[in-house]
Amino acid sequence: MTRTLITLPGLIDCHVHFREPGFEQKEDMESGAAAAHAGGMRTVCEMPNTNPPTVSVAALKEKIQRAERIRNVDIRFFFGATEAGHIQEFRKAWSMPELRKRLVGMKIFFDHSTGDQGANTAVIEEAFKVCAELGAPLVGHCEDAAINAEARELILDQAPEATDVSFYSLMRPCASEARAIERAIQYARMYGTQFHIAHLSTARGVELVRDAKKEGLPVTCEVAPHHLFLTIDDYATLGARGKMNPPLRTAQEQKALWQGIADGTVDCIGTDHAPHLLKEKENGNPLAAPSGVPGTETMLPLLLTVAAGGWPHPNEKSQIENAQMSMDGIKRLCFTNPNRIFNLNATEEEVLQIDTTAEWVLHGAELHAKCGWTPYEGWRVKGKVQRF
Ligand code: DOR
Ligand code: ZN
Repeated sequence: MTRTLITLPGLIDCHVHFREPGFEQKEDMESGAAAAHAGGMRTVCEMPNTNPPTVSVAALKEKIQRAERIRNVDIRFFFGATEAGHIQEFRKAWSMPELRKRLVGMKIFFDHSTGDQGANTAVIEEAFKVCAELGAPLVGHCEDAAINAEARELILDQAPEATDVSFYSLMRPCASEARAIERAIQYARMYGTQFHIAHLSTARGVELVRDAKKEGLPVTCEVAPHHLFLTIDDYATLGARGKMNPPLRTAQEQKALWQGIADGTVDCIGTDHAPHLLKEKENGNPLAAPSGVPGTETMLPLLLTVAAGGWPHPNEKSQIENAQMSMDGIKRLCFTNPNRIFNLNATEEEVLQIDTTAEWVLHGAELHAKCGWTPYEGWRVKGKVQRF
């Protein structure tokens, strides 16, 4: 069969967790970059929940120094904040040109996730205020802590022995994301902050972003591939490997995300590459397993499969009828939009060569991430990054 080759700029993954320093057994900058590179990425934005967390000038400097040795991928960093002092540190870092070249903006967690960086109301509001003042992008992990806590308590009251991982989606319900986004949009309106919602996972969330954009607010959002291709029905095969924050949702929510892509409400696809070791995922109670899935190497082939008119999920019935993708769409969602939103100045040069006809099967053991597994194990995809 003849091969069809197309070119694209090296892509941008605006949401990865590379775990260095602190958790190098899960991933480090080198292995994370290798996975990203193999997945067609040339620029990634890395999150602050490392150890030490990226909440001080010193911690950011340390990360930047480590990133200097990585040549194949340009690693940029988000700054975190769980207390007012961290926001002061961010202010300092933002004013230092040698740090600014790799500092993308600030990331704030509305509830705890891996790394327990959930911030209280005062810190969240201060982050919106200061980022607006500095003209820095602010990214939010939008899940409401109070709604999550209440939902969790309710489940554990009713089913104290619960271990089934599917309960996790009830413990962090859709209403929690909606509430946090509502609050965030209020702050963005009040202060004029450039605000970006990470891994949007609900229909209501898409609606809120759509309305905020109509209103002319500087609000943008991203969705993650696992919410585009997996639902709560996948818990049966994935177990704790399907556990992440925000959690898997129903097919109805998934459909709204694809709709948001189709109508331009969704600006970016960011992988939320968050590797954990299988032995951590499968160590006893699935509900207590760490949250997060790897994804930076698998996103492009999954999207290319949709662009080729297919659906990569092995259960054909899970196909979302409004799931549509094109090469232009991939370029817009994974290059042009994140490049603009985060002022990354990534080069437009078309360095990525893709064989859109190559069919292959995803196997975690053959991918570059250290964790050696993928939630898409055995999935047949169409479209492959060539050697370059
Ligand atoms: O599932 C997740 N994993 N969500 C997050 O917010 C953090 C991430 C991680 O770092 O493991
Ligand atoms: Zn994340």
